[in-house]
Amino acid sequence: MTALIIAIDGPAASGKGTLGKQLAARYGLRHLDTGLIYRAVAKALLDAGHKPDDKPRAIAAAKQLDPAQFNETALKQLAIGEAASIVSAIAEVRTALLDFQRNFAATPPGAVLDGRDIGTVIAPDADVKIFVVASPKARAYRRFLELKERGDSVNETEILADILKRDERDRSRTAAPLVRAPDAHLLDTTHLDIDAAVRAAIAIVEAVRAG
Ligand code: C5P
Repeated sequence: MTALIIAIDGPAASGKGTLGKQLAARYGLRHLDTGLIYRAVAKALLDAGHKPDDKPRAIAAAKQLDPAQFNETALKQLAIGEAASIVSAIAEVRTALLDFQRNFAATPPGAVLDGRDIGTVIAPDADVKIFVVASPKARAYRRFLELKERGDSVNETEILADILKRDERDRSRTAAPLVRAPDAHLLDTTHLDIDAAVRAAIAIVEAVRAG
């Protein structure tokens, strides 16, 4: 049995996670939010009192990572995102996490992976690649609502600043920068609600599968 692999990439808070979950449910695939992996490495460092740019400790934390222990709510905090973007720029950290992601993708029946380098590095031969974008303002507002619902006291200006800073760092790093793969389908969700964005993503998958 072969694996169907759907790669979703895009900047912070572009809706990749929601799309990933819904596409996985629709096609009977597993889903991996790869941002959680880098967030978990960052959290391990911060919890132990270390800085996210502590290269040897970041590499050691990446090698010891246990995805079965992930606590998504704790990992989604605003401060962890910023630290994750710092650890994720370390090439050896990314290398240490490569096999786990590739094995996850290749295990039948396949998977939807979302992140920054899925279509370019993790699964360059993915069956379908989608690059999701939305205006920074729209992304900040969505993340604001999400965090508010969780009871986090954050403001939109702070979230917008975090998003812009992380996007810039993720785009300009040398190790697997955030970039649209040449064969990725662009999906702009700025003016789409969740249902419309999911419908648009399904239309892309269906068009690709129909050849
Ligand atoms: O997707 P999320 O915002 O949770 O990702 C947190 C950070 O992890 C990103 O800003 C990025 O620096 C890093 N990341 C990455 N490669 C991925 C997924 C996330 O570098 N595939």
